[in-house]
Amino acid sequence: MGSTSLLHIVFVALSFTFSKALPSDAGSGSPTVVLDTATFTGVTDGTSNRFLGIPFAEPPIGDLRFRFPLANPPYIGSHNATQFGPACSQQRPNVTFPPELAPEAAGFLNSSLAILDFPQSEDCLTLNVWTPAGTQVDAGLSVAVWIYGGGFELGGTSSYDGAIIVNRSVSLNRPIIYVSMNYRLSALGFLAGKEVKQAGVANLGLQDQRRAFQWVQKYICAFGGDPSKVTIFGESSGAMSIGAHLVANDGDTGGLFRGAFMESGSPLPVGDVTEGQPLYDTIVAQVGCTGSSDTLECLRQAPFDRLKAAMDASPSLFDATAGEVFAWAPRADGAYITDCPQELVLQGKVARIPVVNGDCDDEGTIFGVASLNVTTESAFRSYLKQFWSPGFTSTDVAKLSQAYSANITEGAPFGTGTQNALTPQFKRIAAVLGDFVFHAPRRLFLQHISGKQNTWSFLSKKFKSLPDLGSAHTSDIPNMYGPGDLTDYLINFVTNLDPNGRTVLNWPKYNTSTVQLLTLLDGTPSETITTDTFREDGISFIMELSLKHPL
Ligand SMILES: *[C@@H]1O[C@H](CO)[C@@H](O)[C@H](O)[C@H]1NC(C)=O
Ligand SMILES: *[C@@H]1O[C@H](CO)[C@@H](O)[C@H](O)[C@H]1NC(C)=O
Ligand SMILES: *[C@@H]1O[C@H](CO)[C@@H](O)[C@H](O)[C@H]1NC(C)=O
Ligand SMILES: *[C@@H]1O[C@H](CO)[C@@H](O)[C@H](O)[C@H]1NC(C)=O
Ligand SMILES: *[C@@H]1O[C@H](CO)[C@@H](O)[C@H](O)[C@H]1NC(C)=O
Ligand SMILES: *[C@@H]1O[C@H](CO)[C@@H](O)[C@H](O)[C@H]1NC(C)=O
Ligand SMILES: *[C@@H]1O[C@H](CO)[C@@H](O)[C@H](O)[C@H]1NC(C)=O
Repeated sequence: MGSTSLLHIVFVALSFTFSKALPSDAGSGSPTVVLDTATFTGVTDGTSNRFLGIPFAEPPIGDLRFRFPLANPPYIGSHNATQFGPACSQQRPNVTFPPELAPEAAGFLNSSLAILDFPQSEDCLTLNVWTPAGTQVDAGLSVAVWIYGGGFELGGTSSYDGAIIVNRSVSLNRPIIYVSMNYRLSALGFLAGKEVKQAGVANLGLQDQRRAFQWVQKYICAFGGDPSKVTIFGESSGAMSIGAHLVANDGDTGGLFRGAFMESGSPLPVGDVTEGQPLYDTIVAQVGCTGSSDTLECLRQAPFDRLKAAMDASPSLFDATAGEVFAWAPRADGAYITDCPQELVLQGKVARIPVVNGDCDDEGTIFGVASLNVTTESAFRSYLKQFWSPGFTSTDVAKLSQAYSANITEGAPFGTGTQNALTPQFKRIAAVLGDFVFHAPRRLFLQHISGKQNTWSFLSKKFKSLPDLGSAHTSDIPNMYGPGDLTDYLINFVTNLDPNGRTVLNWPKYNTSTVQLLTLLDGTPSETITTDTFREDGISFIMELSLKHPL
């Protein structure tokens, strides 16, 4: 687990670079907003105002642990909204760097450590709003709602400075409002199993996000926002969450959002909530609830520290070698998510709204680092079954091994020749991992929705020269929270439901006949157009396998 665990944190890597210590003094001249009968006082930097740490639900503690989030009662009194609320309790990352890793790669992964020091609490359901300074209540601005990544186990809003995006929107003369919410993580947010399904309390982290969407509908007018012009955007498990919201209620958004912008995440090849039973049973045992007549109620009443210890000991998305690709993830619950997300995509039960969905080129490298002990052809073949599904036949394994060649010049980081071969199998594993978790779900999603709604896709090849890791997972974040090219595309999309605008290269739609990818590059030009036809055999076969063996 040791070297694996460092990968927990990379979903939030880089982002700490941008999280500046925000002043918390609310002096005179501070912006205020009236919600219900309450006054919230925020902070201004002259271009953007921020209102932080606003509770959007009843605290999910006590009897409300493992229950749907309840709407906040009407606000009363005066509140300081000058500081982030604590992040949701998360799994403790246990970090060990494999000695093979280049110092730059270790530094890239290590850089995220700092942000894990943020305060955490089980009582964490707060959100934050940034507005252009001087926005009038009736301004009717478009709204971007951010869902952070972290493998459904980690992360928090305080790592992302909404002022970067709001400031840029002001200078583009396309002012928007930015909102970010915390949502429950790990066992507290994504506990699965038959008991959970029966009690109707699955996918609580998704429900927290949805509760925040509902809050936006009710309150964003007070900030000058238009509740009919909301785009949800997110990265990694944030984008995977959006993939779930797009197929939820069989594709009925309920008017909560009108656009989706997804970085490194798509509707996932996950199965039913009952797939989580082994982990449920483990948590129950570790907390000391085995034998209880109502194990879920026992977990609900358990001392927080016991539950937290069980969460810390649980495997993670990144623990590829243990066959726990999606230890914690949203799954089909029979109510909000009526079937496996990819099946819903195939059935056309998808919200018919404009969608942007892109990936980084080398999504799998940071996860492949966890499997440096896999160095031979036969170990690679066992790894495939261990990693994805014991249900793979030997023919499946043989086909995959052929599609993903052992030739290091063909692995990830792609296009780096014989470089970055940490082991003879590393680049191959990195290629397969990136395709299973990111590229294949994205391509499957786009193939089925393009032509039915406006869709755009991107491929980020920035940071290609990062040793060992290349254009790694999370390496597009600096391009969004830069500001960078993606910031402008996002702002155009949020205001106009089309990412195109005068400051950026024309980004053609993705459709079934022309699968075009806006491709982001280091250097000049920083943008070009390529096609989504790479690794056609491997990715098609992975799509087939994923549908057959949902997790
Ligand atoms: C971290 O992982 C190492 C193995 O890589 C293990 O020996 C150690 O006990 C773990 N530490 C904690 C605090 O879990
Ligand atoms: C808000 O913060 C200021 C200064 O930090 C403090 O003086 C004031 O009492 C706080 N108000 C509330 C309602 O907490
Ligand atoms: C990771 O960061 C810690 C400090 O946070 C430092 O002590 C350590 O040397 C760094 N490790 C690597 C491999 O960069
Ligand atoms: C936003 O603009 C203000 C004023 O121009 C500046 O002080 C602030 O640092 C900017 N914030 C960010 C995150 O760029
Ligand atoms: C590599 O390590 C993982 C966990 O540490 C283990 O499950 C797996 O069997 C090992 N693989 C090989 C080929 O040694
Ligand atoms: C590996 O692939 C490269 C490029 O596709 C090719 O030039 C080379 O001959 C291959 N090596 C082997 C051993 O097949
Ligand atoms: C697909 O996109 C191409 C290029 O933008 C366009 O020429 C073509 O008409 C589109 N096809 C469909 C079916 O929309």
